[in-house]
Amino acid sequence: MDRIRIRGGNKLNGTIQISGAKNAALPLMIASLLTSETLTLKNVPRLADVTLLLRILRNHGADMKMDGKRTRTAAMNGETVHLTAAEIVDTEAPYELVSRMRASFWVLGPLLARCHETRVSLPGGCAIGTRPVDLYLMALDRLGAEIELEGGYVIARAKGGLVGDRIVFPKVSVGATHTAMMAAALARGETVIENAAREPEVCDVADCLVKMGAQIEGIGSSTLHIQGVERLHGATHSVLPDRIETGTYAIAAGMTGGDVTLCGTRADQLDSFLDAMREAGISVEATDDSLRIRRNGNGLRPISVETQPYPGFPTDLQAQIMALMTKADGVSTIRETIFENRFMHVQELARLGAEISLHGDTAHVKGVPRLVGAQVMATDLRASVSLVIAALAAEGETMLNRVYHLDRGFEALEVKLGRCGADIERISD
Ligand code: EPZ
Repeated sequence: MDRIRIRGGNKLNGTIQISGAKNAALPLMIASLLTSETLTLKNVPRLADVTLLLRILRNHGADMKMDGKRTRTAAMNGETVHLTAAEIVDTEAPYELVSRMRASFWVLGPLLARCHETRVSLPGGCAIGTRPVDLYLMALDRLGAEIELEGGYVIARAKGGLVGDRIVFPKVSVGATHTAMMAAALARGETVIENAAREPEVCDVADCLVKMGAQIEGIGSSTLHIQGVERLHGATHSVLPDRIETGTYAIAAGMTGGDVTLCGTRADQLDSFLDAMREAGISVEATDDSLRIRRNGNGLRPISVETQPYPGFPTDLQAQIMALMTKADGVSTIRETIFENRFMHVQELARLGAEISLHGDTAHVKGVPRLVGAQVMATDLRASVSLVIAALAAEGETMLNRVYHLDRGFEALEVKLGRCGADIERISD
């Protein structure tokens, strides 16, 4: 089980290349099930979740080819993956695979739309919450699916195929929007999805579906109009940059007081996050494909943040901004409105000397003059990277256990931070 050792106190200076977005790559790969032709995806990040999903897709009968080694600069732009689900040979997604990565539950929509029947294991809960799927099932029910829950599986059938209808989501759900969009793309007639998620990753998937022949209007808004088509064809699409990785490294630069340029990213998808960074006293300079983050010596100002669906402050940056605020000059408040249990990092940050008190869905973070390194444990993907951020500014050595959480969502984290001067090392036992 790998661990990561960090000796804090170094400023981060230099450049970091941002990878393709995990939360776009996963649904884009799943979209390959919607066509018998080849879907080519570029800028795919090298992540454990991507590797696992490739295995799941091959279980359904998809062939996968990856381009070979490329020149250094091209290689910095992730992998190119060619996925061809010429025939779906197995419409079941088993528990032992789905339980390892929740997003694999998203094969439900495409398999039902293309094969008119499927059996997918319920994903179960995880560290940050119970993670229900009622909105996914409501959406497919609206498109004419017959749905049964049996033995921990969703069994869905649509004899004669799905039929377009109006879907009104009572709350914003990224996964349920992906599922409804992919299913509606092959349904007969028109589907209107109201209160759809507007996350950039959802838009990226919609853009790719349109390249594959889907007819989708309103991309980027909360109302999508989809005219179903007989079949979708192959396409080539490049995964958009990872805004969560971008925000994570921006916070790391602000935490250490350094000067870091994030390359191959987009500032226009992080407005509410960048507002919070500026409010905290961190300098942010944006070009069309890079962000320069600096904090030259001045202290960090406390801020008040509330997570919201896009374009609000991203819940996937909540743990990271909390780590930053542990060193602010005053008390910050962070309210988590998306997930019911996304404060698992609080106890671990406290082991490094942070002073955080929880009041229901709100954390009060009282800035402290110093953090001190310790043994800490990761509980989920974003909580683990918040511990890395805190460790970079802690005195002494921090050992982070259960590093596999990090590898699920951050490509070559210790390499990227090490190149900017962090004293960070992966220890493989
Ligand atoms: C996606 O999860 C992301 N995962 C999450 O990132 C992200 O935190 C989340 O969206 C919110 O932005 C991927 O894209 C792979 P939701 P998802 O459905 O789709 C409730 C990471 O770290 N809900 O938008 O599962 C749900 O419980 C991960 O990369 C229902 O009640 O999130 C939550 O409270 C973590 N019923 C809220 O909606 C449903 O049927 C938003 O969840 C579905 C969701």
